[in-house]
Parts: sequence; structure tokens; C-alpha cells
Amino acid sequence: MNYHLTTMTAEHIPYIAAIERVCFSHPWSEDMLRQELWNDSAAVIVAEGEDGSVLGYAGVSTVLDEGYVNNVAVDPQFRRQGVADGLIAALARFGRAKLAFLTLEVRASNAPAIALYRKHGFREAGRRNNYYDDPREDAIIMTLEFDHETEAAEQTGID
Ligand SMILES: CC(C)(COP(=O)(O)OP(=O)(O)OC[C@H]1O[C@@H](n2cnc3c(N)ncnc32)[C@H](O)[C@@H]1OP(=O)(O)O)[C@@H](O)C(=O)NCCC(=O)NCCS
Repeated sequence: MNYHLTTMTAEHIPYIAAIERVCFSHPWSEDMLRQELWNDSAAVIVAEGEDGSVLGYAGVSTVLDEGYVNNVAVDPQFRRQGVADGLIAALARFGRAKLAFLTLEVRASNAPAIALYRKHGFREAGRRNNYYDDPREDAIIMTLEFDHETEAAEQTGID
């Protein structure tokens, strides 16, 4: 699968809004996505195909050193080809450099997404009852913590 990772620009927004509508019962609109372009504490990483189309994307917003992953999706016709792997690995690299943790909510029945996040080191940190509607369902909270003290000690050889 040929794609490269880049940050969201205005040209990506119609593609992303179309994928949102296919994937979610409460999709982000083009206006909501456009606001993210002006939000200094948010970023959307885009997997862009050779023709400029969007294969998938992952959004994150930050509060101090906390990272909240808000939307992750891949166009159904490009799934199971490693696109989400690339997006989550990029988010994790960003998080490791800048944040104490990344956290997100996922529908309890969303086995593909839960497997994706587990693969990248996210662990189940809690549950929010009836968090989602259309259909009503619990959310699993998953968190990836970055242990900067251990990493710094490993780099310097000090324990
Ligand atoms: C979840 C989603 C983003 C995965 O995207 P993808 O590009 O198909 O995923 P990848 O091909 O990169 O797969 C990466 C890993 O995710 C997991 N995974 C992806 N699809 C899966 C599936 N259908 N069943 C089980 N595991 C799956 C696997 O762990 C996989 O690793 P592996 O190939 O080594 O087994 C995609 O299915 C999607 O857009 N779903 C709808 C939107 C959504 O639910 N987003 C998450 C909201 S929290």
C-alpha cells in the first residue's frame, strides 16, 4: 500500500468527512474538522495516497502532557493493509517524545480497534457505562503510558 503520512490540510477535509460518515453514527462535519486546523493543541495525521486522497487518519488533542486520541479511521476499501498501524505508530512516536500518556475511548464491541490499540501497547484502563448511543454501548478506556524515567535511565545506562 503506497501512502505517506502528513498533517491534515484543508484539501483533506472532504475526504475525511466522507470517511467519518461511513464509519461513525455521530460523524465530525467538515466545519468541525476545519476548526481543528486552527487548534494549536490538536493535530490530525493523515495517510495520503499517491493521488492526494485520504486513506485514513488519526486525530489527537493535548492538554499539557496528556494526549487524547479522538478519531481514528481507515477508508473501508483500504483496510487490513497496515494503514492504521502506520498512523498509530506515528501517534505513539509523537507521544513518546512529548507526552506522559495517550488515552482514548473505544466501543466495547469494536474488536478490530481494540486489537489495533493493544498491538501498539495501549492497555485497558477502565470502562464508561453507556457512553455511546446509536447504538447504546459501553466505552473501554485504553491508555498508553510513556515511562520517561525508565527510558532516560536505559539511554544513560543509569538505574
Ligand atoms: C480499526 C481500523 C482503524 C483499523 O484500520 P486498518 O488500516 O484496517 O488496520 P491495520 O491493517 O493497520 O491493522 C493493524 C492491526 O489492527 C488490528 N486489526 C485491524 N483490523 C482488524 C480486524 N478486522 N480484526 C481483528 N484485528 C484487526 C490487528 O491487530 C492488526 O494487526 P495485524 O495485521 O498484525 O493483525 C479500521 O477497521 C476502521 O477504520 N474501523 C472503523 C472506524 C473505527 O472503529 N475506528 C476506531 C474508533 S476508536
